[in-house]
Amino acid sequence: MGTALVTGATSGLGEEFCWQLASAGHDLVLVARRERLLDELADRLRNVAGVRAQVLVADLADPTDLQRVCDRLDADSGTDGTGPVGLLVNNAGYGLGVPFPDDDLERELRALDVMVRAVMVLAHHAARSMRRRGRGAILNVASVASLTGAGTYSAHKAWVVAFTEGLSEELRGTGVTASCVCPGPTRTAFFDNAGVDMSRTPHWAMASPERVVGEALDAVRSRRVLVTPTPVHKAAMGAMRLSPRWVVRRVMRAIPHM
Ligand SMILES: NC(=O)c1ccc[n+]([C@@H]2O[C@H](COP(=O)([O-])OP(=O)(O)OC[C@H]3O[C@@H](n4cnc5c(N)ncnc54)[C@H](OP(=O)(O)O)[C@@H]3O)[C@@H](O)[C@H]2O)c1
Repeated sequence: MGTALVTGATSGLGEEFCWQLASAGHDLVLVARRERLLDELADRLRNVAGVRAQVLVADLADPTDLQRVCDRLDADSGTDGTGPVGLLVNNAGYGLGVPFPDDDLERELRALDVMVRAVMVLAHHAARSMRRRGRGAILNVASVASLTGAGTYSAHKAWVVAFTEGLSEELRGTGVTASCVCPGPTRTAFFDNAGVDMSRTPHWAMASPERVVGEALDAVRSRRVLVTPTPVHKAAMGAMRLSPRWVVRRVMRAIPHM
């Protein structure tokens, strides 16, 4: 089984990616900023799932840290006996929770670095190394927000979708695939971290991380380019694609800012 590198592994979807990949026998490289959480997760993955796990503490907005993650993608092996990375999961990301004109510009630029620049840089290293080896997969985590036009978060996720679609075509015939998952609202720390109150959102409107990650990994295995997990969020994406954009923007006014 190959090694998977997961960014944003300390929480939510990233942690769930690690567990589902480990239970399928994949060794892991765990990337995020919180070292203690990464070390604890790596220990549990080794002890419970019996896989190898390497910890890479990195702030993806920091160019030096980002380069260390790129070096791991280029390498044929890592510490803890992990092998070449056969799956890159570009998952790290967060909501800003503040309208763009009201936000601090430095904070906005850091978010751009994490959710766009790092995704591009890591995908570039992964695509080249995997293409050289003749196999591999890149999975980018976008969002239903890619269609909602809600601030810079939506813009970043729209970029992730367009980027992945283009990359999937450019990689055709190389043995390497690119897929993109567009989750709807999912029960993780995402909304608390963004300061967005979801307490009045009905349970059925929120997906579970298990379901989102399961459907995303199914898409990678079946080489599908785009996937939106859960029927309710698929329907929301379909409705946004069919509606005039002014209707989508009007509806979004009633929804908390990401
Ligand atoms: N939950 C949702 O409703 C939802 C819906 C659609 C899309 N998404 C997307 O799903 C992805 C995962 O989000 P989540 O819901 O799992 O949220 P989460 O539980 O808050 O996890 C976010 C992860 O990103 C990492 N991260 C944040 N900034 C980072 C940085 N500068 N460098 C490295 N890692 C960083 C965090 O780790 P550290 O803090 O340890 O660095 C954490 O592991 C994100 O891309 C998000 O946009 C979420």
